[in-house]
Amino acid sequence: MMYFLLLIVSSLVLGCKDSTEKINLEKIQKGRELFTSVGCTTCHSLSKDKLYGPSLNFILGTKKQVIRNGKEYAIIIDSNYIKKSIIDPDYEKSLLFKSNKMPKPSLTSIEVDCITNYLINMNNKSQEK
Ligand code: HEC
Repeated sequence: MMYFLLLIVSSLVLGCKDSTEKINLEKIQKGRELFTSVGCTTCHSLSKDKLYGPSLNFILGTKKQVIRNGKEYAIIIDSNYIKKSIIDPDYEKSLLFKSNKMPKPSLTSIEVDCITNYLINMNNKSQEK
């Protein structure tokens, strides 16, 4: 986790070559707004409570059983997994929630990026406690 913090700090200091991967406050703020306004909160808590879908607080770096093409896999949640889960919810389904269906949200790739940044940053905050 220190490594992750270092990555963030260094990307803030050095600037990012790839702007789509940049974690910045504007994106986090926009992501926070979108998360509520497009209705993610209907199915996802950010407080470990299980709603219709899994809680999305503190998920980065955690181990997860998923189903892809009918097969079970153990994965470690990274930013790509989070992004992919938003863009294409049926690609890998959370084993514990396999009977529940997440509708494909209509978001631009920038919006998906903002929400992903927001979720990652949230995770980060809860680590600092
Ligand atoms: C109608 C309920 C519903 C809504 C609305 C919804 N989701 Fe989901 N989401 C789910 C369910 C159910 C799963 C688990 C099953 C699956 O992976 O498809 C899930 C899985 C996820 C995952 C993967 C989490 C993990 O631990 O594997 C992410 C990330 C996610 N959703 C983000 C979002 C975002 C961001 C939004 C808003 C744009 C959103 N969801 C809207 C129901 C929903």
